[in-house]
Amino acid sequence: MRVFASLSVALLAFSCLSSTPDSSAQTATKAKAAPALVAQTPPMGWNSWNYFADKVDDKGIRAAADQMVATGMKDAGYNYVNIDDTWEGERDASGVLHTNAKFPDMKALADYVHSKGLKIGIYSGPGTKTCGGYAGSLGHELQDAQMYAAWGIDYLKYDLCSFIPDVMQKQAPNDHAAQMHLMIDAYEKMHQALKSTGRPIVYSFCSYGWDAVWEWGPKNGANLWRTTGDITADWDRMYAILGQQSGLEAYAGPGHWNDPDMLEVGNGKLSLAENRVHFSMWAMLAAPLLAGNDLPNMKPEVKAILTNREVIAIDQDRLGKQATHVYSDGEVEVWARPLAGGAMAVAVVNVGSDRYSTHPFHLNLAKLGLQGPQKGKDLWTGKAVDVTPGMAIELPSHDILLVRIDAPKK
Ligand code: GLA
Repeated sequence: MRVFASLSVALLAFSCLSSTPDSSAQTATKAKAAPALVAQTPPMGWNSWNYFADKVDDKGIRAAADQMVATGMKDAGYNYVNIDDTWEGERDASGVLHTNAKFPDMKALADYVHSKGLKIGIYSGPGTKTCGGYAGSLGHELQDAQMYAAWGIDYLKYDLCSFIPDVMQKQAPNDHAAQMHLMIDAYEKMHQALKSTGRPIVYSFCSYGWDAVWEWGPKNGANLWRTTGDITADWDRMYAILGQQSGLEAYAGPGHWNDPDMLEVGNGKLSLAENRVHFSMWAMLAAPLLAGNDLPNMKPEVKAILTNREVIAIDQDRLGKQATHVYSDGEVEVWARPLAGGAMAVAVVNVGSDRYSTHPFHLNLAKLGLQGPQKGKDLWTGKAVDVTPGMAIELPSHDILLVRIDAPKK
């Protein structure tokens, strides 16, 4: 189901180096040193696509970097400023890809972002074209990786898109298994190219969950991999994606994360409660937290959600254990994840549009493996909460109770 749904989405869209023990350490060149480990906790930052799409430009990226600092997002842990599709220009006779007029000097832009104490990400894909119809990296993987490294790029999102018709369908018509091998080889090719630069670059696979990417992605260098087709800024899509994450928890961990797509907090039709659910659940999932809103015009209530440090701490917990969907009772879902030091986070979500607080939900603590009353903290009110067996929880439609229990009694 997931594969077919994603295939149509994609087709629509298309219309460490290891250091050698060396006695002469002083002579080791910088390029040969082992790159620092990346993505030991889920990457946090901002990406241009969800709000700006093809309107992104140099000025917009600088403004986003400025705002990440000014709004306190940087202090809250967001550090990547990622340029998505539509920066690419044409290749010259030597195959060097130039930027288009929206990005006059990528090196200068990267320097600017770095000067703010932030990191910078970029986007490409293994096909001839990106999803937006701009130049992809097919046949130029090493050249592109070296250029990214020379610019000072810290993160690459690599989007399958035209590789499907360009290579998979052309080289292996009607042979889906062979097509999947071609896809995996293409991701590995860029992995090797990035690795050969010696620069620590977060490698993000955008292949819509195809062929259970969570099983093969980590072996092929993925620090994160999209598990589904694209998110949109509405409850139905966000909730559909949430449902598809259940069962993938075994695959997430330090250095390699399931990516249910970038955040739509502050975008589109999401109500404030829905934004809270979206942000809380992405944190429960140990998902990358890549904001995708209009930072210069961010409303205070949206900023308050994106910078809730206690919710971010759930996402960034060093154990890196993605939440499990423990049980549902009608239209209320209960998710939980273990946290470092024996702590636990519990999320209770009213996913129904017609279940009201006149009919409260009663929490079954035994199903969470907990015995007797528990001392918790409500991470949205900031208040202490006694979590008791069978307690009645009144939640408006599409709202959430997110509780941290520091010393769970089991
Ligand atoms: C695909 C990706 C999106 C975005 C666009 C850009 O649809 O899934 O996240 O990168 O391409 O064209």
